[in-house]
Amino acid sequence: MELLRKKSVEQSIRDTEDPEHRLRRGLSALDLTVFGVGVIIGTGIFVLTGVVARNNAGPAVALSFILAAVVCGLAALCYAEFSSTVPVAGSAYTFSYATLGEFPAWIIGWDLILELTLAAAVVSVGWSGYFASLLSDIGIDLPASIAAPPGDGGVVNIPAIALVLAVTVLLVLGIKVSSRVNAVIVAIKVTIVLLVIFAGLFFIKGDNYSPFIPPAQETGEESGVNAPLMQVIFGFTPANFGWLGIFSAIAVVFFAYIGFDIVATTAEEARRPQRDLPIGLIGSLVITAVLYAAVSTVVVGMQDYRELNEEAPLSHAFEVVGAGAFATIINVGAVIGLTSVVLILLLGQSRVFFSMSRDGLLPPFLSTVHPRLRTPYRSTILMGLIAAVIAGFIPLTELAELVNIGTLFAFLVVSLSVPILRRTRPDLPRAFRTPFVPIIPILSVLGCLFVMINLPLETWYRFLAWMAIGVLVYFLYGRRHSRLGPAGGGHRAKSAE
Ligand code: ALA
Repeated sequence: MELLRKKSVEQSIRDTEDPEHRLRRGLSALDLTVFGVGVIIGTGIFVLTGVVARNNAGPAVALSFILAAVVCGLAALCYAEFSSTVPVAGSAYTFSYATLGEFPAWIIGWDLILELTLAAAVVSVGWSGYFASLLSDIGIDLPASIAAPPGDGGVVNIPAIALVLAVTVLLVLGIKVSSRVNAVIVAIKVTIVLLVIFAGLFFIKGDNYSPFIPPAQETGEESGVNAPLMQVIFGFTPANFGWLGIFSAIAVVFFAYIGFDIVATTAEEARRPQRDLPIGLIGSLVITAVLYAAVSTVVVGMQDYRELNEEAPLSHAFEVVGAGAFATIINVGAVIGLTSVVLILLLGQSRVFFSMSRDGLLPPFLSTVHPRLRTPYRSTILMGLIAAVIAGFIPLTELAELVNIGTLFAFLVVSLSVPILRRTRPDLPRAFRTPFVPIIPILSVLGCLFVMINLPLETWYRFLAWMAIGVLVYFLYGRRHSRLGPAGGGHRAKSAE
């Protein structure tokens, strides 16, 4: 059936040989791990730790980080098998095209565009907050009207727009340049995180850990669309803290892990994808999970969770204990560190877009690689501009939840696809095999569903609306222009001339 036509794994690999559409293969396992760590550590740990400890989880926030890591770890085991079997650009999109068929693949690709573009915008706005606070440290106060979007007390967020545009230029100039810049930034960021952990240890007060899981409190206000789906389905009175609070916190801090899957989107640029991708995926996830658990435990030990700051909790905790110099260093590190997150999110995004357009599901002129720079410059510029507009004008807390639901959905489909591909293509070489199939994929699907139902009803509505638009675009454009369809054959012949 047309909707389920599949692009064979062999054809996916062949496509990468087409000179007009070929990316440069320059990344090692270390580069991939650095990419992963670079995009994972960001707004999640620098900002959301304080928000959820204060509002949802209390001192037990580390539990939310650990549970979120378990869900991501299960998905990573599935991602690793896929990415080592289908080593071409496109991430979950490409994997589902080879396994589930064209329509499910389109849905996933459309979903990834949402995830990555919005996430880049979310992190840019987080960056602009730290940037404004750094400027104010040196006596320059940006007027709120040009440093915040409408809805958050401003008109436009100029620093966020400037960051997205600068990052877009780096990406157009070429992956090797940007991955080197990124490696330096990641080193700085990890150093800052370690500084928080080891310097913070000296300021911990045991009293701040008690009670470790504060008793559940009814929110009173969370009704209708603001309540998590789970609380609506099971008829709980909406509550924060207690175990329900820890669960809602998982659905938010999940954002902190977004990005490890992007390692898979650079498969086409890896030197030895079969071996290096699983190392990059799982390595970056393990490193960040350990750092997050440590940072969040230290911060709630330094300060009463009810007093944590929601904009810059890590540096603020150091100010409160009288270590202002550390606070400034952390602010500088956050500004630099968040830059690398935006860089990799946009890189991953442009690669998904590139693959979809190469397959004819989006207009093909977007997938042409620049003759000298060898980067898909058109899709990079287009999506950079869109992310810049979103970053400049849209308030972000709710967007972050939308990013999470999109990502969880992609993880869920990838996990489902592992056992399917084992059945349909048992012959393919798999450099990495997910252990205990189908148990791990099933646990991964259940884990993703669990986190998803802890997101507010409103987020579900928005997600479904975006997906409905995607279905329309597919039926109006992609289905007819697909390279696997009759029209696609024509496009192919043309590019070969
Ligand atoms: N995981 C990334 C962050 O926390 C997206 O900013």
